[in-house]
Amino acid sequence: MGRALVMGNWKMNLDYVEAVHLVQQLGVLASSRPLEHVDIAVVPPFVDLRSVTSVVESERVPLTVGAQHVHPLESGAHTGEISAPMLRRLGVTWVLVGHSERRQMYAMTDEVVAQTLQSATRQGLAGVLCVGEALEVRESGRHLGVVADQLRSALEGLNEAQRELVTIAYEPIWAIGTGLTAATPQVREMTEQIRVVAQSLSLADVRVLYGGSVNADNAASLVNEGSLDGFLVGGASLKAESFWAICEAAEDCYSGRAK
Ligand code: PGA
Repeated sequence: MGRALVMGNWKMNLDYVEAVHLVQQLGVLASSRPLEHVDIAVVPPFVDLRSVTSVVESERVPLTVGAQHVHPLESGAHTGEISAPMLRRLGVTWVLVGHSERRQMYAMTDEVVAQTLQSATRQGLAGVLCVGEALEVRESGRHLGVVADQLRSALEGLNEAQRELVTIAYEPIWAIGTGLTAATPQVREMTEQIRVVAQSLSLADVRVLYGGSVNADNAASLVNEGSLDGFLVGGASLKAESFWAICEAAEDCYSGRAK
């Protein structure tokens, strides 16, 4: 019985002043109700990372910090890019790999996703591999196959130490930022198949998150019935109260399971 993981992906929102304020608010909520069964992480824009890791450390806020993207190479002539050693040096522990917005808007192919996950985990970052199908894929009934292909292409070839650094986030593209949450049976079907495919690639105990319009109202039923280990939250992670309510829903579910 592991712990749940709730991550807030802030996307291109919140400048560093707003970021510090949000993390401080989360710190106040965490001291009023410490969560024993949930790991919490925030994933701010690059320019906020230094301020966020400083405030987390100096005020002992019980959360870890991730980046939204990383370049596969360690350094070089790649204007506008950021490398894994730079992130680690800032105290960043996580990185999202292959978020659908990167895949769709910035031409991140399966091949680049695989290279990025390889390189990030080799350099000691914990990678959150994002997978998920477009609406037309789901409507044509090919969603299980498409997601299995995404998983195989990204996970094959990782060594044991790298595999231990992987978390998988199932994020159906049609549910991201649309207010259309996937129904619990749809989530459950996919998360169960993700575990089967992961197991066949020697990732036996991988954590599987769900993301796509998660909010304070739907989190409890998703985590109780969706066969999940937590959430990757976008819009609802931008306000302390709604993000914390999602963390508490995971805590309630996991503390019940631990009894
Ligand atoms: P959303 O985003 O919660 O705003 O749908 C989720 C994500 O893209 O990670």
